[in-house]
Amino acid sequence: MKVLGIDTSCDDTSIAVYDGEKDRVLSNVVSSQHEFHQPFGGIVPEIAARKHAENIDLVFQESLQIAGIETKDLDLITVTRTPGLLPALLVGLTFGKGLSYCLSLPFKAVHHIEAHIYSPFIEKRKEIPDKFLALVVSGGHTLMFLVEHPFKYTLIGKTLDDAVGEAYDKVAQMLDLGYPGGPVIDNIYKNYFGEYVQLPKPKVEGFNYSFSGLKSAVKRLIEKGYPKEQLAASFQKTAIEYLLGKLKKAIDYYKAEAIAVSGGVSANSLLREELLKLKEKGKKVFIPDIKYTSDNGAMVAFVGYMKYLLEGEDPLTISAAARSIL
Ligand code: KG4
Ligand code: ZN
Repeated sequence: MKVLGIDTSCDDTSIAVYDGEKDRVLSNVVSSQHEFHQPFGGIVPEIAARKHAENIDLVFQESLQIAGIETKDLDLITVTRTPGLLPALLVGLTFGKGLSYCLSLPFKAVHHIEAHIYSPFIEKRKEIPDKFLALVVSGGHTLMFLVEHPFKYTLIGKTLDDAVGEAYDKVAQMLDLGYPGGPVIDNIYKNYFGEYVQLPKPKVEGFNYSFSGLKSAVKRLIEKGYPKEQLAASFQKTAIEYLLGKLKKAIDYYKAEAIAVSGGVSANSLLREELLKLKEKGKKVFIPDIKYTSDNGAMVAFVGYMKYLLEGEDPLTISAAARSIL
């Protein structure tokens, strides 16, 4: 079964072709719009939607070409329906519905967070544990779930203000490092060998997080004239230690044996290094391949395929939603 996966939830137009039986990604094309949003220091929904509309057909054609298939070879259309920027989501959803209607193919709508949660298991479908602790860390979300496979979620923690990726982007903007901030700050951290400044780790209840205090602390130190590199590296050290500290507490509390960390921030070098240490301690740790950390069509096709087998198709009347819980 050749599955098309479409994601236009944010600022990447992405379409993938996934072979369901073989559990193989045949293509995963991502057209990034970063340069258009960069001058605004964040994503402008109107611009995102317009660029998706301009690019989506090209991305679709390229994805088929790389996969070595034609439109007639497709068997299932899967699309991110929620959550995300509404005008952006609508472009992908409408495109997917149109394809499904014209080609008389089944259609499956996918929840973006669910796609991230399962992204560490792409091309490793047989390794999905019956139970695992999932941490999703991206530009829009910082969420911790207990997952019972197939597809049962209990939310056990979330950010009470900014998402961790958002904090990265805002700190980078304050330091004039460009957008998106995560990769730039990560790079500075990797090349920094100086002293770190102490930054606060906000105390919030349970397995919840808060990142706005950390961001404000960096702002105050910028005003005091601390060097950019020192602040960027110290921010990363504190943010990742904070993320991991709570994750480890949750692992102990729930006696989790398997952990899956996903989303754009899971590309972070320090986070990945620290997660590997957990693996050495005997935990099963799943992290996505770097190309599946940020938004991509492959994770949509992967989850869409599994859910289609389990639940069947969705009606074409299904609509997009900017927000929705899992
Ligand atoms: O999952 P994603 O592509 O989009 C959302 O659904 O939000 O995540 C994008 C976020 C951005 O905030 C970006 O700064 C962050 O992931 N990011 C990173 C790294 N690479 C991307 N954050 C920390 N370290 C990185 N290496
Ligand atoms: Zn995402």
